[in-house]
Amino acid sequence: MKNYLEKMMEAKEFINAKVGTFPDFVVVLGSGLAAVLNEIKIEVEIPYSDIPYLAKTTVEGHVSKLLIGTLGETRVACMQGRLHFYEGLSMEEVVFPFRVFGLCGAKVFFLTNAAGGLHVEMKPADLVLIQDHLNLMGTNPLIGKNIDKLGTRFPDMTHLYDPTLRRIVAQTAEKLAIKLQQGVYVGLHGPSYETPAEIKMYRALGGDVVGMSTVPEAIALHHMGKRVVAVSCVTNLAAGVGPTPLEHSEVLETAKKVQTVFCLLVKESIKEMKRVL
Ligand code: HPA
Repeated sequence: MKNYLEKMMEAKEFINAKVGTFPDFVVVLGSGLAAVLNEIKIEVEIPYSDIPYLAKTTVEGHVSKLLIGTLGETRVACMQGRLHFYEGLSMEEVVFPFRVFGLCGAKVFFLTNAAGGLHVEMKPADLVLIQDHLNLMGTNPLIGKNIDKLGTRFPDMTHLYDPTLRRIVAQTAEKLAIKLQQGVYVGLHGPSYETPAEIKMYRALGGDVVGMSTVPEAIALHHMGKRVVAVSCVTNLAAGVGPTPLEHSEVLETAKKVQTVFCLLVKESIKEMKRVL
C-alpha cells in the first residue's frame, strides 16, 4: 500500500504528464462562482475522477475538474469544485489536491468561497478579502505524523494570508471601483448552517464571515510555503442576522450575480501579482 506522500507523488506525475509546466497560479472557485471558466482559454481539462487518489465532491453546484489555461494574460490552473470536510472526507483527503498542485510547482493559490455575513454591513453580493481566519472546524489538516518534505511540524500562521498579495487585491479592487471589504473568516465544518446563538458567538469572537471551506487548504498550503490569498463572496446574511432562514439555492443565486465582477477582480489581481512572484 502506498503511503500518503507516495500517492501525492503519483498524482503529481499524472498531472505533469498531461500539463507540462504547471502554472504559477491556482484559482479555486467557490460555490456558484464558475464564471471565471467562461473566460479561460482552456488547454487541458482533467476531471478530478481521473487524478489518482483524488476523492470526488458530492455538493450540488460543484462540478469537479482541474482546468489549465489562460485567464486574461496569465496561465492558471483553475479548480472547479473543492472537497469539503462535511462530505465525510478526512482532512488529508480535503487538502490532497492542493498539496499535489503545490508539488506540481504552483506558487500562488487564489481561494474563493461563498460565505455568510456576520454583520449587516457584510451583506449579500459583497466581496470580503480575508485578512485572517478562526479555525473552528475542530481539527487541523496537519494532525498526524508531519510530512517533513512539505514543511515543519509547527508552522507559524502569522502571515497565512499573504500581506503583499492582499495589498495587490485591495489596490486592484480600488482601481476597478469594486467594493471590497476586509474581514476574518470563521471556518466551520458544517454541513448544517449555524444557529443564531452560534452566529452571535462567532461575531463576539471577532469573525466577520462564516463558511465551510478554505481554512484546511489555507493551512496546508502555508505549511508548504505556498502563497495564499482568499476572497469571500457574501451570499447571505448569517442565521439570525437577517429575517429569513438560509437556503443553499440563495447561496448559489447570489454567487451567480456577482461572479462577473468577482472574475474581473481575480483576473486583474493575478496580472498584478506576476510582478511580485
Ligand atoms: N454559513 C456557513 N457557510 C456558508 C454560509 C453560511 O451562512 N453561506 C455560505 N456558506
